[in-house]
Amino acid sequence: MKIKSAEFVVSNSAVEKCPKSRLPEYAFIGRSNVGKSSLINMLTSRKSLAKTSGRPGKTQLINHFLINKNWHLVDLPGYGYARVSKSAKKVFQKFITQYFAYREQLVTAFVLVDIRHEPQPIDLEFMQWLGENGIPFSIIFTKADKLRPKAIENHIEVYKNIMLETWEEVPNYFITSSSKDIGKDDVLEYIDSLNENFISN
Ligand code: GTP
Ligand code: MG
Repeated sequence: MKIKSAEFVVSNSAVEKCPKSRLPEYAFIGRSNVGKSSLINMLTSRKSLAKTSGRPGKTQLINHFLINKNWHLVDLPGYGYARVSKSAKKVFQKFITQYFAYREQLVTAFVLVDIRHEPQPIDLEFMQWLGENGIPFSIIFTKADKLRPKAIENHIEVYKNIMLETWEEVPNYFITSSSKDIGKDDVLEYIDSLNENFISN
């Protein structure tokens, strides 16, 4: 799929304030600093459509981007950011949880996982929660440029085995690097195929 246009629509902290249109949408979620905003920039070939930072906690709101005038990409704040106060964490969890619980046009969530690390409980728990709530998701492994191919293979194998302890099948997954432009076409083709099957109601 070719990205012909990509524009910022709105930022907010409440699912009720998200765009009312019934366009299919795809949300990027994962730990702070995993590379959600960078991935959106890679997919859209726009350097700074989504704001990125070396410091975790950059994205604080639900950000909608309109792509090719007919679907949305959604950049979300990260979870697991230790320096956010407890009360801020609660507010955050609430609006993110509500986004996933109520956003009917959400076709799939992409859960981003840093390929360098062992499977983290917070990610596994979040995927579990998505599963329990019937929200489809795929895993996107990020920062593949940081590992050699053999190490990538090993890490994926470890991840698959952990997933199979609780899931019947390994979820759909992608290997990406935003700094090296890896995995872009795979993710875009996947979104394209889901867009074709999306029936607005
Ligand atoms: P929050 O908004 O804070 O939750 O973070 P985020 O998940 O949106 O991460 P962001 O895209 O801001 O990237 C965090 C840091 O990781 C930045 O310094 C990026 O340059 C870096 N980064 C993101 N993707 C990659 C990648 O594929 N490879 C490498 N080497 N660095 C990356
Ligand atoms: Mg971000």
